[in-house]
Amino acid sequence: MVNVLRLNDVSYVRDRRPILDGITWSVDDSERWVILGPNGAGKSTLLKLATSADHPTSGTVEVLGERLGKIDVFELRNRIGFVSSATGRRIPPTEPVRDIVLTAAYSVEGRWNEEYEDIDVRQAERILEEWDLGGYADRTFGTLSDGERKRALIARAVMTDPEMLLLDEPSASLDLGARERLLQMLSGFAASPASPAMVMVTHHVEEVPPGFTHVLMIRDGAIQAAGPIRDTLTAANLEATFGMPFELTETGGRYAAVARP
Ligand SMILES: Nc1ncnc2c1ncn2[C@@H]1O[C@H](COP(=O)(O)OP(=O)(O)OP(=O)(O)O)[C@@H](O)[C@H]1O
Ligand SMILES: [Mg+2]
Repeated sequence: MVNVLRLNDVSYVRDRRPILDGITWSVDDSERWVILGPNGAGKSTLLKLATSADHPTSGTVEVLGERLGKIDVFELRNRIGFVSSATGRRIPPTEPVRDIVLTAAYSVEGRWNEEYEDIDVRQAERILEEWDLGGYADRTFGTLSDGERKRALIARAVMTDPEMLLLDEPSASLDLGARERLLQMLSGFAASPASPAMVMVTHHVEEVPPGFTHVLMIRDGAIQAAGPIRDTLTAANLEATFGMPFELTETGGRYAAVARP
């Protein structure tokens, strides 16, 4: 097992308010984590530190074995796949899906005049098929549905063979069918030992892909619970995280929560 992310007593303070407070957490390459927590809990801020886009106010963050603040983060960012609603906004609407994936190999948004290697073209075709986008290669980003866009962004993120894949609410705004298809694909991807470590933020236990191994639950910037999903995703921990009692059920690796009267 190789450690890909290690936070030690991390705090992140803005406007004298602790947005993250005393976070100690580590992720190994074989692990697939879900981060659960209410709006404003600090989930996206945590991912921002994990992508090396920002530094903690105190404590240490090690990403892919490198301590933030000590190394060139640009080199590091090429080894991390990241998908959020903001990454989607940076893709030109006129960009064809094939190029969205292919340009990841060259770290640019919007195809320019690069000469692509055959090996990259073949890898892009394979990834497009894997994320059910084979028929969309020539379509432009602006014409895709939300669900298709999410898959295109994930396909782009995995094109560089990242060592860590970070997904911030990939199933937000998807319809039931699109959400279920995305969960199946994430679940299949998570199952492959060749896949990188994964960390996925969501608000809903219904969106935990089967096969994800661990859960981190945060509230007001502090960890409420962290560990293997089977022991940690409990009604008591959901209540501590979301501040109300739930009935939690699990069927075939899928979870569901409803408020307890
Ligand atoms: N740079 C900043 N300056 C001031 N406040 C910030 C900054 N970044 C984040 N915050 C605040 O920190 C809190 C946590 O934000 P964050 O985006 O991490 O939450 P989140 O858990 O991802 O929420 P959501 O589920 O709504 O996406 C929020 O109250 C947000 O307004
Ligand atoms: Mg967020």
